[in-house]
Amino acid sequence: MEFVEQLKSSVDIVRTIGEYVRLKKAGGSSRYTGLCPFHNEKTPSFSVNPIHQRFKCFGCGVGGDVIEFIMQIDRLTFFEALKLLAERNGIAMPKREYADADSRLRAALLEMHEMAAALFQSNLSGTGGADARAYLAGRGVPQEDLDTFALGLSDSGGQQLFRRIDQTRFPPEVLEQSGLVMKRQEGGGFYDRFRGRLMFPIHDHSGKTIAFGGRALRAGDEPKYLNSPETRLYHKTYVLYNLHRAKDAIRKLDYSILVEGYMDVIGVYSAGIRNVVASCGTALTNTQVRTLKQHSERIVVNFDPDAAGSNATEKYMQLLLDEGMTVRVLELDRNLDPDEYIKELGVDAYRARLEKAPSYFHWLADRARKKFDIHTVEGRIQGFKFVAPSIERVPDRLERFAIANDIAGYLGVDAHMVRDHFSRNQKAANRPASRGPVVPPNERLLLNSLLASELARMQVIPHLSEMSVIERFTTRNVFRAIFTLHHDQVSFRFSDLEGRLEDADRDLLSAVVFADDIIEEQDALAQAVACLESLRAQEPKSEMAELRARVQTAEREGNLEEALRLADELNRRSRR
Ligand code: UTP
Ligand code: MN
Repeated sequence: MEFVEQLKSSVDIVRTIGEYVRLKKAGGSSRYTGLCPFHNEKTPSFSVNPIHQRFKCFGCGVGGDVIEFIMQIDRLTFFEALKLLAERNGIAMPKREYADADSRLRAALLEMHEMAAALFQSNLSGTGGADARAYLAGRGVPQEDLDTFALGLSDSGGQQLFRRIDQTRFPPEVLEQSGLVMKRQEGGGFYDRFRGRLMFPIHDHSGKTIAFGGRALRAGDEPKYLNSPETRLYHKTYVLYNLHRAKDAIRKLDYSILVEGYMDVIGVYSAGIRNVVASCGTALTNTQVRTLKQHSERIVVNFDPDAAGSNATEKYMQLLLDEGMTVRVLELDRNLDPDEYIKELGVDAYRARLEKAPSYFHWLADRARKKFDIHTVEGRIQGFKFVAPSIERVPDRLERFAIANDIAGYLGVDAHMVRDHFSRNQKAANRPASRGPVVPPNERLLLNSLLASELARMQVIPHLSEMSVIERFTTRNVFRAIFTLHHDQVSFRFSDLEGRLEDADRDLLSAVVFADDIIEEQDALAQAVACLESLRAQEPKSEMAELRARVQTAEREGNLEEALRLADELNRRSRR
């Protein structure tokens, strides 16, 4: 496993994780913190420690090294995560090791998608693509967008792609799992899934083609869009169309725009508004929302006008709010979707609408204004009650009240009523996330200094391991493991230490390592010696205290013989 260690030490964990999570340096410490990408939270409990090259979330408990981070966030196997990190950091992988069957399958599927995308593209630009090109031109999609979005055309014969794929390299069971070709019901053999369709490649966040959406070109061809099935590469509920192109803009502008269709993305993006994504023909899921949230917590939802107010839309908005997103709503008039709107009214008009898009709650309040007679007190109250259930679901208490007051003002409802309403509905109160176990400061400091320096370990461990106070430490198992490691070997690795601990002790260790103590290697020895000294001063005293406690317990339990014996012992010691 030498390569793994080498890779880990040459990869910058803060930079790597920073690609997925917005990290801020924790004040006065070497740590970085951010919102955990693995669960929904408002305040950051996710922490990265560059010294020990570890990450940890004190909210949901996930943690590990940079490879484990990549495995979890990108849902990759160990080998794939290694490969990805090596590629991104320009490190050569040793050829022999690591490839397991699952990684080989994924690699084969990726290659097939690569081939398919190239074939579809060349179909579109070739002679057979004239009609499709005319269709796109008619819809106002210029040549450069065809390239940007790698649009293509699938052959209508149903055999072209299948023939192109090298059957000697991809056995039938792999072909079947690609979702690109389908097995005939009778007679054996395969045929292409996509036939005579305009092809939209779907990418993962790093830009690899993992699936396709295919739009029918002839009216009456059903379905209008045919999408890849779930495969080992493609998990619909995780993927957002265009995310890999949009993510930088989403971070920079600090919001994303969610539209409904592939064509909407293309229309908006190529008009110069880059922070736009869509889900791929499925209802939005919480994993997709979390993915977006990694780049920005703010979102503008631009749904088709007929969808506004439908049950599906309500659910979808709730999902965004429950995940802690700040939501604005862009509802276009004249029954146009974003693509059509930009084509008809121009990008400036769209941009203006985008900038003016109201918050979700104001948008709901606007709907309430239309629904109820806002000129009467009754109507205003009804209006507020229409919006209130959504406000109640805002996870953060202060934010909830602020929004409630704001909307009450907007609808002209008395603030008293708001307070009444919300004190009767306290169920939505949210509990703060657990911050992990607490380690007493002296144990923390001592551990951090031992972890920081070999010299500190050499000088201090021989004394420390003799002392009985350690046995009363919360972190005694961590200390014991360090003693054993120190005793057994010369080079001390953090991962070896972790490997010796049970879950609970590992959590303790994380709490130590991610505390805000900064101990530079050159100060570690002095710090460790200081800790040792203060422990020494405590030691006899604390032993006495323990004896005293045992005397009391024995008395309470009526075990007088034992109490006397302990009291004797106590006397003897205090005379010494
Ligand atoms: P739309 O019908 O609004 O498509 O469906 P569109 O992207 O605006 O395309 P044009 O403008 O009609 O060409 C929105 C999205 O819903 C999914 C696709 O992801 C589509 O982009 N969808 C739609 C399907 O998956 N299957 C369908 O049959 C229809
Ligand atoms: Mn459309």
